[in-house]
Amino acid sequence: MRSRSALFFIVHCLVAVSGTIKMDYPNLVNGSVGKDLIIPCSFRVIDDTLTGEATVVWWKSTAYTGPVIYQCSNNCSKSDGRYSFAGNITEKNISLKISMVSFTDTGVYFCRIERSDKFTSQGIVLQVKVPKELRRIYVQTNEQGERWVTCEVFGDPPPNVIWTQPNTVNPSEILNQHGIYSSSSSVPASPNTNYTCQIDLEKQKVALSIYNQESGTLAAACNERVYITVIVVLAVTLGIVLLYLLCVLVNLFKRGHNKPSENDDNVYHNYPRLPDL
Ligand SMILES: *[C@@H]1O[C@H](CO)[C@@H](O)[C@H](O)[C@H]1NC(C)=O
Ligand SMILES: *[C@@H]1O[C@H](CO)[C@@H](O)[C@H](O)[C@H]1NC(C)=O
Ligand SMILES: *[C@@H]1O[C@H](CO)[C@@H](O)[C@H](O)[C@H]1NC(C)=O
Ligand SMILES: *[C@@H]1O[C@H](CO)[C@@H](O)[C@H](O)[C@H]1NC(C)=O
Ligand SMILES: *[C@@H]1O[C@H](CO)[C@@H](O)[C@H](O)[C@H]1NC(C)=O
Repeated sequence: MRSRSALFFIVHCLVAVSGTIKMDYPNLVNGSVGKDLIIPCSFRVIDDTLTGEATVVWWKSTAYTGPVIYQCSNNCSKSDGRYSFAGNITEKNISLKISMVSFTDTGVYFCRIERSDKFTSQGIVLQVKVPKELRRIYVQTNEQGERWVTCEVFGDPPPNVIWTQPNTVNPSEILNQHGIYSSSSSVPASPNTNYTCQIDLEKQKVALSIYNQESGTLAAACNERVYITVIVVLAVTLGIVLLYLLCVLVNLFKRGHNKPSENDDNVYHNYPRLPDL
């Protein structure tokens, strides 16, 4: 708090010395890979009589000598690749928009306004993160034959996984593994227990649940759906066989009661007869 008031004091002194423009911007901006972001920057004209031509410059890495990533004068509306103007000069807003943020956007940014008077911001640090995600939950059996419930998450920095179900999870039994962006949290699975893992996103909590059914016997492996499928397949097969038998019976019945027609005769005797051979 003290350092912030000190900063304010310094900024006020700078305003007093330089005269007319004061800038507002954050020290730090967080961005997420693949998303768009706005680096805010605005100014206040202390002496409101000052108007006229305005030029906006954005540098990366260092002010004045670093690469100019965006520049416009007066009518600022153009975009330059992934950089576009998100402000409004009339409203004294010179914010910059970066589309499709990537890790290479990490760095320090400087905004500058030239309008009767000139002012350049201090560095605005952009941190790029990989958004947090709760990917999946599953039960697996390891080489020792133990069943574990695993919760897979994604993000950099990695999200913190909390097991909210069952309330008997022993924190010392939790096995956490960290990859580059994906990481996982595993707990030993007790039979017939519901497991829920949760992560905190900025504005909400997300959770996934899985029910670890009793395992080991064939009966347990065969769930209701398997039974129903087997029964349906058997029923259909039986139906087809019965239909076939019925057709055969009907044909036999017909043949037994109808006098054979000429046509039938042709069909049955259209082969070389013994005397012809
Ligand atoms: C940016 O992320 C850091 C953690 O990496 C956090 O401490 C900080 O509050 C975030 N700042 C903003 C403006 O979201
Ligand atoms: C500002 O620039 C845009 C695009 O270059 C143009 O269409 C528009 O007419 C300009 N506005 C003014 C007030 O010059
Ligand atoms: C400037 O414009 C940006 C983007 O429209 C907005 O996010 C920001 O709040 C504005 N800043 C001020 C001080 O109005
Ligand atoms: C900028 O702000 C002014 C005043 O609020 C508004 O009239 C104008 O339409 C805005 N310009 C753009 C490009 O949004
Ligand atoms: C497991 O817990 C979750 C979250 O409380 C719930 O939605 C789900 O119905 C439960 N499943 C079983 C089989 O109890």
